[in-house]
Amino acid sequence: MPKTYNIAVIPGDGTGPEVIREGVKVLDVLSQRYGFRLNFNYYDFGGDRYLKTGEILPDGVAEELRKYDAIYLGAIGHPDVKPGILEKGILLRLRFELDLYINLRPVKLYPGVDCPLKNKGPEDIDFVVVRENTEGLYAGAGGVLKKGTGDEVAVQESINTRKGVERCIRYAFEYCGKRKKMNKLTLCGKTNVLTFAFDLWERTFYEVAKEYTDIKADYAHVDAITMWFVKNPEWFDVIVTDNMFGDIITDLGAMIQGGMGIAAGGNINPSGVSMFEPIGGSAPKYTGKNIINPLACICAGGMMLQHIGEEKSAILLEEAVMKVTATHLKSLAAGKMGFSTTEVGDLVARYITELSL
Ligand code: IPM
Ligand code: MN
Repeated sequence: MPKTYNIAVIPGDGTGPEVIREGVKVLDVLSQRYGFRLNFNYYDFGGDRYLKTGEILPDGVAEELRKYDAIYLGAIGHPDVKPGILEKGILLRLRFELDLYINLRPVKLYPGVDCPLKNKGPEDIDFVVVRENTEGLYAGAGGVLKKGTGDEVAVQESINTRKGVERCIRYAFEYCGKRKKMNKLTLCGKTNVLTFAFDLWERTFYEVAKEYTDIKADYAHVDAITMWFVKNPEWFDVIVTDNMFGDIITDLGAMIQGGMGIAAGGNINPSGVSMFEPIGGSAPKYTGKNIINPLACICAGGMMLQHIGEEKSAILLEEAVMKVTATHLKSLAAGKMGFSTTEVGDLVARYITELSL
């Protein structure tokens, strides 16, 4: 009996279904080559379903999703739905309910990809951001008083628990050790101003660091990090940070690796089901045009394979993607690749059957 994995697929909104189609195409080719089976089960959560039925996520869906080996998500966000409803109601709700407490975001410049940084190449840009994914400013703590009046008060609090911070930091140390690159973990914070939250982060970080003597524990303020990403990205190996800072610095990271067309991420619960997605959003203006870049979604599929234990196939997927960026694509931007969405998927699939590892 071949090894079988059950994957829940949420194509979602906008260009989500188009990129998921290419991701599934590539994963199918890999499963044939490596002799495992992937059962894809599709869920229609997203803007269209919400507009038709008024339902964002059915109750009990987290329980159902927990039974899968992984979740593969396209994109959430619909132009006819007020911003925030679907993002909070689907993406963030799944992150919270499934306790996907790590958001893992590799920033790697592939060969042939145009980098906006002068004199930086693939050897300079290869690091991973470990973003806390269930707390901080995203926890929804706070409230509003006297809304709409001149006396309106809005409070949005950052929640940082010892347990939440520690499990994230531990994951980052473990990940850094396994990555075997520079053995350097940088805490990204703001200890000079956020003296409650980042004091907790900093103390926890250096306490846990004592257990990982082979890893260099390093610190940088978030504002400085945005500067170093542009000036000296080669300094970084693994970075650990809170939810909000992680959100911001990974968009900058995506830009220095060539843009949203290539940036993938994993929402991870190390002891449960995890969810993998391209981080670029639904890009509604490109919907149905067959011009969106599917590589981010394909790379998210690679992260998913790695996570479920099909490491070899994940390595081949990345090799095939690198072949495509190095020898075919004119650009990673939608409409400028020199190939359609489906053609890019076909190219990756072709290299997966042709390349020998
Ligand atoms: C991301 C996105 C989400 C976030 C939005 C869509 C809620 O920007 O995954 O980075 O802020 O986490
Ligand atoms: Mn974001």
